[in-house]
Formats: sequence, C-alpha cells, structure tokens
Amino acid sequence: MAYRRVEIPAAELARQRELCFEIRARLEASGKRPLALVDTYGCQQNEADSEELRGYMELMGYGFTDDENEADLIVVNTCAIREHAEMRVLGNVGALVHAKAKNPDLLVAVCGCMVQQPHMAEKLKKSFRVVDLVFGPHELWRFPELYKRARDTRRRVFMAEPSEGVVAEGLPVRRSGNVKAWLSIMYGCNNFCTYCIVPYVRGRERSRRFDDVVAEARSLVEAGYKDITLLGQNVNSYGKDLDEGRDFSDLIRAINDIPGDFLIRFMTSHPRDATEKLFRTMAGCEKCARHIHLPVQSGSDRILSEMNRHYGRSKYLEEVRLARDLMPDLVLTTDIIVGFPGETEEDFADTMSLIEEVRYDAMFTFIFSPRAGTKAAAMPDPAPREVKQRRFDALVGRANEISAEKHREYIGTRQRVLVDGATGKSPWNLSARTNGGRLVHLAGGEELIGRFVYADITDGNTWALYGVPSEK
Ligand code: SAH
Ligand code: SF4
Ligand code: F3S
Repeated sequence: MAYRRVEIPAAELARQRELCFEIRARLEASGKRPLALVDTYGCQQNEADSEELRGYMELMGYGFTDDENEADLIVVNTCAIREHAEMRVLGNVGALVHAKAKNPDLLVAVCGCMVQQPHMAEKLKKSFRVVDLVFGPHELWRFPELYKRARDTRRRVFMAEPSEGVVAEGLPVRRSGNVKAWLSIMYGCNNFCTYCIVPYVRGRERSRRFDDVVAEARSLVEAGYKDITLLGQNVNSYGKDLDEGRDFSDLIRAINDIPGDFLIRFMTSHPRDATEKLFRTMAGCEKCARHIHLPVQSGSDRILSEMNRHYGRSKYLEEVRLARDLMPDLVLTTDIIVGFPGETEEDFADTMSLIEEVRYDAMFTFIFSPRAGTKAAAMPDPAPREVKQRRFDALVGRANEISAEKHREYIGTRQRVLVDGATGKSPWNLSARTNGGRLVHLAGGEELIGRFVYADITDGNTWALYGVPSEK
C-alpha cells in the first residue's frame, strides 16, 4: 500500500536533544530537582513509547515519581482501543485538578492514541482545562519542543496532526527494567479490521530499517537484557514497505545470531500472514521463545469475514496444527472479541468450539466496543448488553478452566525460567517466566533476578505456576 513515510532527519532529533539540555539548565537554576510521572495505558507499544518519553525527561533533568502530588510534570499516555480504556483515562485526567490546585506550576500533558482522534482532542480542549499540552503518537519525537512551547508561552498547546507515518530513529530511551526490553520494529497498521481504531490513530504500517533494529537488539544484549520482545501490530508484515528484501523471519534469524544467552519474543502476529516460513524459523532459532500470540478474534467464518480478518476458521486451525507439529512445546495465546455486531448464538458457539479445539494456554477476551469512525461502529448491533455479557462470562469461564488444566500439566516438570523481578511476597518472592512466557511464582533468593535458572514446578492454577529453584 502506498503511503508517505516521514523519516525525521537526524539534525531535527539533535535539535530536540539540545532543547533538553537547555531545559535542564533552566530547571537546575531553579534549585530543586523536578519530578515527572508518566502514566501509561494500552499495549506494549505504548509502554515502549513511554520509555522514550522518559528518555527525553531524563535528559531534561527530571527524576521520576509515582505520586501525582509530588510531580512537576505529568504525562498521560493514552489508549483508544475500547471505550473502557478511554473512560479510565478521562476519569484520571479529570482528577488531576487536585494535584494542580496544590501545585499551579504542574504541567499536565496527554498523549497517545486517544488524542489522535479529533473528537477526543476537542473534548480535552473544551472540558479538561487542567490539560496544558496534547500531542499525538506522530509528535512524540518532538516532545522537548512542545514541552518548551507550553512552558514558555503559558498557553495550552494542542498538536495531534493527522499523519500517515513518522519514523524517528535514535530517541533517548529510559527502560523500565534491566531484564526485559521492548523493541519496536514497526509502527502503525494497514489491516483495517472493521472494529479497530489502531490504523486511524497510529497511521500506516512502516518498518524500521533492518540494520537499525538489529543494532538496537545487539546493544540490548550487550547491556545485559535477557528477554527482548519485538513489537508491531502485525510483525509478520515487517519489511514489506522497505526495499531491503528482508522479512520478519530474516530479522529473527539475524537477532538469533547475536552472541549471548537471551530470548526473542514478538507480538503480534496476524493469522493472515503467519506463514510456514515463520514457524520453521521459530523452530530453527534456539533463542526464539516457544510462544506465539495468534489472535483469532472469533471462531465463526461469517464474523471473521465481517471483521475483515482475511482468514477463516479452517486456515487458522491449520496454522495451529502446523506450528504445533514443528514445535510440540509451543505456548499459544489469543485475543477474542465477543458480541461483534450481528453475532448470533451459532457464531458464538463456533467460538466456544474453537477454543475447545485449540486449548489456548491463555486468552484475552473483550466485549465489542464500537469505535467512532470504524466500519463496525456503523453495523446494526441488535444483541442486548446482557446477552453479550452472558456469552462473555461463558467464554471466560471456560478459558480459565482450560488455562488451569494446561498449567496443572506442568506440575512435576522442571522448567528453565528467566527470573525477572521480586514480588515482595512470601514465600513466592520472585517472579519468573518460562520459555513459553508462562508466569512462575518462585521461592528463592533475590540474587537470582536477571538469571536463567531451573525450577521444579510444584503447583499451577489459571493464572500462574509455582515452583522452587533446582539444579539443572
Ligand atoms: N494488532 C493486534 C491487536 C491489537 S489490539 C492484532 O491484530 O491482533 C488488541 C486486541 O484488542 C485485539 O486483538 C482485539 O481482540 C481487541 N480489540 C480491538 N478493537 C476492539 C474493539 N473495538 N472492541 C473490543 N475489542 C477490541
Ligand atoms: Fe487493529 Fe486489525 Fe491492525 Fe490488529 S491487525 S491493530 S486488530 S486493524
Ligand atoms: Fe491502545 Fe494505541 Fe495500543 S489504541 S492498544 S495504545 S496502539
């Protein structure tokens, strides 16, 4: 698909960094170390964006806090995927009036997918006076400039211009931990699933250059990260918009070749483009985690077609079979939408039978939420809320049972896990992940954090496994 790729010139980004130092000098002159709070909603892509915002803030001299009453700068990075997400954001932004009353110098910014919708930017402008600065995902690279404009002019700044796609390389990043890292490999989406707002707010699909991604992966490994998740709305179409002749499988292989003991994860793969080549690549790359998140959305061919997903139930099941043949220990997770417009009892029964057939390790389930401007929002939707809720409850109930059954199969096995943090709870004071990404509560010493260890699994329920460290 033709689109206009806007690569931000290095000189522009250098100018943003210079602004950071200018801002820093000014803040230092005030004598007090300023504190920032970044509140993130939505998907991992947003988490990754927030890490770049924190990178800028760190250059500006900010420290970080979780307490809004202590903050001098608050940025709310929003999500637009469902109405519920937007309601939470608006509620929390509205509540910032209290912090602002205590500290009139507090600067409140709202960014991310929600504000890229003109009606939402308008709503913030009209009804949320507490907000000083609004900027969309395409504007993130020039946060220092927008921040400075809002500070200097003391006027509200609104900057969420429509754009097909910005690519900005080399932004500063302040990552949230030192074991796991997000690595965006592409931005935007071309798929226009009829229910989904993402293509409208994130623009067209555009890939980062192959060498840039591999170089960043290498620097993460060298910095000691053990778990790297490649991010994109549809990672399987990585590279299609570049003229480099390399695809997602090539990228996995190149990262797999980086020396070191680490895991490669990725999300999300669209079932339409999940190919045999991808599964073979996963199977052939020892550092690639045995996990695939393959959102099916529905088990009904009719609904899948209404959703514009470009695959049917049998193609999907064929993919699952193939992937499991190649990787018998593969962990499979999915997303499902219940109550898409026009979904009948029969369509829903197809979804229930599909999950029995696949038996997912974990499922993320949502009730359809109409998004302004999408095709599905205009489709007749006769099913009442109670009917959708009943279907949803039935689906979640069965999904939870299946997860528990699958997790119980681990009891008595020994798993290689990556310990990624402390929980502060006794006796399960460590959290870890299996190669397939299942959460393990581990009883062990904190010196294990950041290490691959073996764990004897002693218990399992819907949500997690429990275990104790063991010798190999
Ligand atoms: N790019 C990913 C999905 C990103 S959104 C993919 O294609 O799989 C994450 C999930 O949110 C989707 O898989 C879908 O299940 C759900 N979702 C998206 N839009 C929704 C809507 N309008 N209502 C309910 N759920 C939605
Ligand atoms: Fe949304 Fe579909 Fe794109 Fe995923 S693939 S982000 S569900 S439009
Ligand atoms: Fe939400 Fe935007 Fe991600 S809409 S799910 S934060 S891409």
